[in-house]
Amino acid sequence: MATIGSLPTPPRAPGRVVFLDGQNEMGMVEVSTEMSTAAIYLHGAQVTHFQKRGELPLLFMSQCSRFSEGQPIRGGVPIIFPWFGAREGLGQHGFARIHEWEIKEFAPAPDGSFSLRFCLPECPEASTLPAFTADYTVSVSDYLGLRLTITNRSDTVFNFEDCLHPYFAVGDVTAVSISGLARRTYLDQTAKFALRTEGALPIRIASEVDRIYLNTTDPVEIADPRLGRKILIEKEGSASTVVWNPWVAKSQQMPDFANDEYSRMVCVESGNVAPNEVALSPGETHTLAVRISTQTLA
Ligand code: BG6
Repeated sequence: MATIGSLPTPPRAPGRVVFLDGQNEMGMVEVSTEMSTAAIYLHGAQVTHFQKRGELPLLFMSQCSRFSEGQPIRGGVPIIFPWFGAREGLGQHGFARIHEWEIKEFAPAPDGSFSLRFCLPECPEASTLPAFTADYTVSVSDYLGLRLTITNRSDTVFNFEDCLHPYFAVGDVTAVSISGLARRTYLDQTAKFALRTEGALPIRIASEVDRIYLNTTDPVEIADPRLGRKILIEKEGSASTVVWNPWVAKSQQMPDFANDEYSRMVCVESGNVAPNEVALSPGETHTLAVRISTQTLA
């Protein structure tokens, strides 16, 4: 595990970057700009906190999250790669979220925002896959920018799934409406991946929801009247959108999630999963980019 002493020296203004030992002494970075603050664990390169000045935190973090080697962190923005969901004999949602990433670069910008670039080191689980590199850039501004870049370094096609899986903090999940997915087809993971079509109205949540919307590239907006804000999720290089809330029974089954926390979160994930998986030719690069911004709800 990287210690503070082994990390590069942080730059000076305009951003402030501090390396700390986080929970269970796991290495993390706190970024502070004039517009916002953020926290990123090296474990999974996982953003665990983002907050615009004058606003409530954007991201939900479970009070019961594990912070331990080989386990995902429950909340923030896990990176799902190189597969989504279950794989026989392999861990759910790939291995990128359970390995410690390396920091490669800091980049302060003249507008006061700050970017950090991480890279996934070689992982034993990747030994059966075509050779690849994975880079991840987090931009901390008056928005949160996330950019996952996969390059195929092998001489065969690399098929993979990727997904940036933000847990958004909401006031009351039953009061939010999610727009941008009207009339789109989705795989219903609560019904053995049945293919269904969304209705014309914004999505409301009143039971377990676990849907993979296919061929969806448009922005999605979460309107949260209880917290008085709108969350806008814009993306590039993403053909799938996943909407997830575990609701009551599943929350009770998750050891790293409190029974009532489902009411304060919703995941709207951007990626390329199921039939939208990426087939990357030798030498090619694929970038999945997500920009998350907020506005006061009028
Ligand atoms: C979502 C999936 O992306 O992640 C759900 O659609 C899954 O099926 C959820 O339950 C959480 O997964 P995990 O592995 O972090 O518990």
